[in-house]
Amino acid sequence: MASTASCNCAVAAIPAIPSSSSLPYRLGISKLRLSSLPSHKFPARLCGNSSRNRFHVKSSYAGTNVRDGLESIDVVADIKTEKVVVLGGSGFVGSAICKAAVAKGIDVVSLSRSGRPTLPGSWVDQVTWVPGDVFYANWDEVLPGATTVISTLGGFGNEEQMQRINGEANIVAVNAAKDYGVPKFILISVHEYNLPSFLLSSGYFTGKRKAESEVLSKYPSSGVVLRPGFIYGKRRVDGLEVPLDLVGEPWEKALGAVSNLIRPLSSLPGSDLVLASPVSVNDVALAVINAIGDDDVFGVLTIEQIKEAAAKVKI
Ligand SMILES: NC(=O)c1ccc[n+]([C@@H]2O[C@H](COP(=O)([O-])OP(=O)(O)OC[C@H]3O[C@@H](n4cnc5c(N)ncnc54)[C@H](OP(=O)(O)O)[C@@H]3O)[C@@H](O)[C@H]2O)c1
Repeated sequence: MASTASCNCAVAAIPAIPSSSSLPYRLGISKLRLSSLPSHKFPARLCGNSSRNRFHVKSSYAGTNVRDGLESIDVVADIKTEKVVVLGGSGFVGSAICKAAVAKGIDVVSLSRSGRPTLPGSWVDQVTWVPGDVFYANWDEVLPGATTVISTLGGFGNEEQMQRINGEANIVAVNAAKDYGVPKFILISVHEYNLPSFLLSSGYFTGKRKAESEVLSKYPSSGVVLRPGFIYGKRRVDGLEVPLDLVGEPWEKALGAVSNLIRPLSSLPGSDLVLASPVSVNDVALAVINAIGDDDVFGVLTIEQIKEAAAKVKI
């Protein structure tokens, strides 16, 4: 028996033909709906760029009693591709993730209080911008059908505010995603700086670690936590572009050039503030794209691992 298919992602769904059957064998699946199968088997990178794609799968087989040796069937499959929900898609990191996901043909929904941002580029029109606060979100509007939730929720403020946005907001989001059966959760957290403990006990870091624990406990084999240090790129603040890359990029290159020399200094308290490598916002976004499509990626990603993951993705 031989079988061929024009799309790798569908071949596994073609049932084996019993060797005892008399041929020609009538497959009861001349129209096979693959959308009922687990979506992670059909990653967007293989399957095209709309949320529902039609695939024609040619399958040929031969068996005893078949005179010309081969019989072919057409299988028409509706395949659902990735749908990601970016919490904070209008922000600095979130918008880079939305842009990269759109470029990869992924369906993208963003949830943030301000909704659609004023950013340049045609990709903006391809994102569904839902205005809403994560604490009062109508999850029915965003989560059904989602294959991954990515949270960029976080920020600074007083102790209570930092606990709330870095910790509680993400915990709410993880539990909502879990309740809706979303199979993967990706959290943008922060590098574990070697700061004095009184600084690490601030709401920013403790909130982040609580959020990380929630992701890793609710999603033990698919949750991903990215821990970048300083993220550079073009950040928009009140309509103005702040070119953080003018500082971040040379800083990253300089550290890369002397990495062996400075390694012993990393044991000095607080040295990470200077010695932890900055990472570009595009690399953070690409590392997220890599994690969306690769089910072998889960757990905590360090700065170096973020860069390695980003290098695997081409746009
Ligand atoms: N930037 C860095 O250098 C850096 C470094 C390490 C880690 N990080 C982490 O990376 C993440 C993203 O940082 P960022 O610089 O992109 O921050 P950002 O630009 O401030 O983006 C945060 C996003 O979250 C949304 N948001 C805030 N509160 C919300 C709420 N209650 N409900 C719904 N959406 C809400 C914001 O939109 P609205 O205000 O319109 O709701 C915005 O879209 C954060 O967790 C940050 O701690 C950043």
